[in-house]
Amino acid sequence: MAAGIRAPEPRVLVCLGALLARWGAAGLEAVVIGEVHENITLHCGNISGPRGLVTWYRNDSEPVFLLSSNSSLLPAEPRFSLANASSLHIEALSLLDEGNYTCREDLNETRWFQVWLQVASGPYEVEVTISSTGTLPNGTLYAAQGSQVDFSCSSSSWPSPMVEWWFRAPDSRSEPFGNNLTVSCFALLLMSTNLQGNYTCSAMNMLSGRHRKVTTELLVYWSPSLLLSEPMKTCFIGGNVTLTCQVSGAYPSAKILWLRNLTQPETVIQPNSHYLITQNGQSSTLTIHNCSQDLDEGYYVCRAENPVGVREVDIWLSVKEPLNVGGIVGTIVSLLLLGLAIISGLMLYYSPVFCWKVGNTFRGQDMDDVMVLVDSEEEDVEEEEDAAEVEEEEANEREEVPKEIHKHGHIHRVTALVNGNVDQMGNGLQALQDDSSEQQSDIVQEDDRPV
Ligand SMILES: *[C@@H]1O[C@H](CO)[C@@H](O)[C@H](O)[C@H]1NC(C)=O
Ligand SMILES: *[C@@H]1O[C@H](CO)[C@@H](O)[C@H](O)[C@H]1NC(C)=O
Ligand SMILES: *[C@@H]1O[C@H](CO)[C@@H](O)[C@H](O)[C@H]1NC(C)=O
Ligand SMILES: *[C@@H]1O[C@H](CO)[C@@H](O)[C@H](O)[C@H]1NC(C)=O
Ligand SMILES: *[C@@H]1O[C@H](CO)[C@@H](O)[C@H](O)[C@H]1NC(C)=O
Ligand SMILES: *[C@@H]1O[C@H](CO)[C@@H](O)[C@H](O)[C@H]1NC(C)=O
Ligand SMILES: *[C@@H]1O[C@H](CO)[C@@H](O)[C@H](O)[C@H]1NC(C)=O
Ligand SMILES: *[C@@H]1O[C@H](CO)[C@@H](O)[C@H](O)[C@H]1NC(C)=O
Ligand SMILES: *[C@@H]1O[C@H](CO)[C@@H](O)[C@H](O)[C@H]1NC(C)=O
Ligand SMILES: *[C@@H]1O[C@H](CO)[C@@H](O)[C@H](O)[C@H]1NC(C)=O
Ligand SMILES: *[C@@H]1O[C@H](CO)[C@@H](O)[C@H](O)[C@H]1NC(C)=O
Ligand SMILES: *[C@@H]1O[C@H](CO)[C@@H](O)[C@H](O)[C@H]1NC(C)=O
Repeated sequence: MAAGIRAPEPRVLVCLGALLARWGAAGLEAVVIGEVHENITLHCGNISGPRGLVTWYRNDSEPVFLLSSNSSLLPAEPRFSLANASSLHIEALSLLDEGNYTCREDLNETRWFQVWLQVASGPYEVEVTISSTGTLPNGTLYAAQGSQVDFSCSSSSWPSPMVEWWFRAPDSRSEPFGNNLTVSCFALLLMSTNLQGNYTCSAMNMLSGRHRKVTTELLVYWSPSLLLSEPMKTCFIGGNVTLTCQVSGAYPSAKILWLRNLTQPETVIQPNSHYLITQNGQSSTLTIHNCSQDLDEGYYVCRAENPVGVREVDIWLSVKEPLNVGGIVGTIVSLLLLGLAIISGLMLYYSPVFCWKVGNTFRGQDMDDVMVLVDSEEEDVEEEEDAAEVEEEEANEREEVPKEIHKHGHIHRVTALVNGNVDQMGNGLQALQDDSSEQQSDIVQEDDRPV
């Protein structure tokens, strides 16, 4: 009859206080508490020794016959039976059995005894609902850090149970969450790591004293954050480049993926001879070998995900032609020297500060010399590869100067007056070479003066 129901020993809780209190004019009255689905025995008084003819009634609006010790009288229901010649045994209690029972004993005299049977039910089906973020494969719930989590506990019970929530953090004792909650629901507004642990709902039937608990483990997870060092990277054609993605704060650890968003959905980069992906803890690097502009330039996405969050960052990779350092230096140097030569030429031509005494030579011829000099510089400079060679080149120029002059047949003693210092200059052209920078700065100063 009680199949499927947990079948503990019949619980008959006789409340002695109530019994004694009602031991009065109306006779012996007891309060007996039984539980649904279980069996119970109601005693006809607390009497030892031989018993007379006992008849049991149920007192509702009017007494209803249940059972008699006269075996020729059948019990009202098969559930009722006589135990120990006087007691009423009721099988498989239901809530409808709750009420007052009377037994009549006919011996030398007739005596009445009354028993108040109370029937308790449950708590059964204690159900805990936690509005967490999700459930792990092993059934454990998890909630995201900072999220709101609603807890509720329901059960079927008569009378209504007292519900208590208990919380137990790892390595600490259980503590109650509020006392005697009438409403068995509550919410935690901002989940945090110190609220991770086991939540126990305990429902207690205050009539029967029976209680049931349901414990649910709740983990608090943190979504990942990404620390990104460089939002833009450059790779030279044929070179290698490494993109780095650092995750922090993720609990549990985040899975890190590299993707390209050339299409939607984005495609996950699989490691191969072109892409090398290494992960060290919560840091992942993507190394691209042998960069090519068509294939590799564009956005790369680093995605970190764990059960409570997904974060993505974009990294722009530009692929460029390899930088020719020698060419750049050479160009700069040639421009500098060209400028220098032009300035020198202009000074020779116009400068009011420098007084060049060039003997019988025409100025135009001197300018020709300078221009030839410049031309030869340019040719040389184009072949220059680095700054070190510039030094050599300058040395060559100095050697070339007299050579050029020889070629044109003009060997001049040049006297230069630089800021009135006549002694400074010996060979004019030599002076031009050595003090070119000084002269340039002088010119700037001179330009401010009214001419
Ligand atoms: C109730 O009594 C009947 C018969 O005596 C027995 O078969 C059954 O197991 C009992 N039930 C419980 C819950 O004890
Ligand atoms: C029944 O009566 C005896 C004495 O007559 C007493 O010791 C015992 O506690 C009583 N039992 C109950 C359940 O009242
Ligand atoms: C129960 O029934 C008996 C017999 O009829 C009666 O004497 C008694 O007063 C009734 N008790 C209650 C509480 O109704
Ligand atoms: C038992 O009940 C039967 C039928 O009602 C009756 O004839 C008989 O006298 C009763 N016995 C006693 C001892 O009351
Ligand atoms: C019947 O009486 C005996 C001894 O008095 C007791 O051990 C047993 O529990 C009683 N049975 C019931 C159903 O009350
Ligand atoms: C049983 O009787 C008591 C008084 O003796 C009364 O207070 C109680 O309400 C009755 N129970 C039921 C279910 O009628
Ligand atoms: C019942 O009456 C008989 C004789 O009439 C007597 O011997 C016996 O003691 C009485 N029993 C009780 C419990 O009073
Ligand atoms: C379920 O898995 C999580 C994570 O692996 C673990 O922390 C938790 O203790 C597990 N719970 C049970 C009941 O095994
Ligand atoms: C929570 O309960 C699970 C199993 O129910 C147990 O393994 C774990 O140790 C408990 N954690 C705490 C903090 O009590
Ligand atoms: C709950 O309330 C009952 C009575 O209302 C009291 O006896 C009990 O101590 C309370 N429980 C807590 C945990 O306060
Ligand atoms: C790029 O990486 C590969 C493999 O590690 C290496 O063989 C190659 O020399 C690297 N190329 C450059 C330009 O560093
Ligand atoms: C790739 O991502 C970048 C940056 O978020 C975006 O501007 C671009 O449109 C995306 N490309 C595609 C094909 O979705």
